[in-house]
Amino acid sequence: MWTENLLSGKRLVLGVSGGISAYKSVALLRLLQKAGADVRVIMTKNAQAFVGRVTFEAISGQPVFSEMFGELPDPEIRHISWAKDIDAVIIAPATASIIGKIANGIADDALSTFMMAVTAPRLICPAMNTHMYENRAVQRNLDILEEDGFEILEPGQGELACKTTGPGRLADPEMIVERVVGLLAVKDLAGKRLVVSAGPTRESIDPVRYISNPSSGKMGYAIAWAAALRGGDVILVSGPSILPDPGGVKVRRVVTASEMADAVIDESGTADIVIKTAAVSDYRPVDVAAHKIKKENDTIVMTLEKNMDILAELGRRKRPGQILVGFAAETRDLEKYATEKLVKKSLDMIAANIVGEVDSGFEADTNRLTLFFPDGQEKRLPMMNKFALANIIIDHTIDMIARKSDKAGHQQDF
Ligand code: PMT
Repeated sequence: MWTENLLSGKRLVLGVSGGISAYKSVALLRLLQKAGADVRVIMTKNAQAFVGRVTFEAISGQPVFSEMFGELPDPEIRHISWAKDIDAVIIAPATASIIGKIANGIADDALSTFMMAVTAPRLICPAMNTHMYENRAVQRNLDILEEDGFEILEPGQGELACKTTGPGRLADPEMIVERVVGLLAVKDLAGKRLVVSAGPTRESIDPVRYISNPSSGKMGYAIAWAAALRGGDVILVSGPSILPDPGGVKVRRVVTASEMADAVIDESGTADIVIKTAAVSDYRPVDVAAHKIKKENDTIVMTLEKNMDILAELGRRKRPGQILVGFAAETRDLEKYATEKLVKKSLDMIAANIVGEVDSGFEADTNRLTLFFPDGQEKRLPMMNKFALANIIIDHTIDMIARKSDKAGHQQDF
């Protein structure tokens, strides 16, 4: 997912302890910087047996802190000054030793002593041999850390460098960055249930052909991920897409418009916010051939029947206080068609885009949206990446929920 600029202005400390996966921390440092963060590095002595401090110094552009005494000529008390005014600490890889020390209040080197002074959010990314990871003492220490408010990012499974197979592999650097973004995000959707639809649908013609469209799912996945980072309980109903499930989101994968209708209607009953970015096929073939159609005729005629308009159905079922957001994909007369859909489908907002351009609509990482509202207001947004747009759409839904509940409370007063 998009993490570019999401950590802009954030001051982070990356703690590296001595495991084989310490080399991945170099890639992690680069990704954190690409996300906009200013990162300082603390290494244990053992970590330096795996990766040289010079590598981290060159990439971070700052001295690495690893010795409590006599390391650098200035009189700074590094374990205290570095712990001040930071937004988060990540320890990756976190070995059994550093986990044990932090859990039990042992401060006997630069990293463990620094951790005693930190008050910012702390993310621990364990990585070690499977038997070590499953050892009761390590699990007990991880439980202590969790109880003490640390975030733990479970290691991945697979064949490890020591040739054992099981949990213990350091989480992917991309996943660690996403977790840091989540750790620092404002949780303004906490307690809210969202249903988001994304991607295309496919309507079979025969066993090897179907009617569909170029939707990649990017717009809807960005909304689902942004909403989950902001603390929402998010269900993503997705048509066929090669995108991986966004972290923290429950995903229901469907193929046809009718499967999408069942899933979306089923999930939307109790939702506070429903956002429909899916590009649903309006028609499906009346007859689906049992076998591959042979090219015997110069022309063939196919009869199509209408699929349910899922959004219009949700509009009919809308509960008081529920927010319903639609998308409109048009190739011309954007305002006219979008505002017609806004009214016809009883929406609280419609996000309209022209499709068929390189940098917006289908498949692109960026989009150009105009938001239309029932009171006649419209907001034209500049071209942005789909994650940034997702957050703007979510901001509007939060505002609309607040306004609806104010209005309901006000009506009760009389
Ligand atoms: O997935 P990407 O590659 O990132 O592309 C994003 C996108 C272009 C698909 C997205 O930005 C977008 O415009 N989505 C809406 C696509 C669409 O089907 O628009 P529409 O104007 O045909 O439909 C209007 C609304 O009704 C949509 O919210 C749609 O989900 C809904 N609809 C349409 C038909 C139908 N049978 N049931 C529906 O619910």
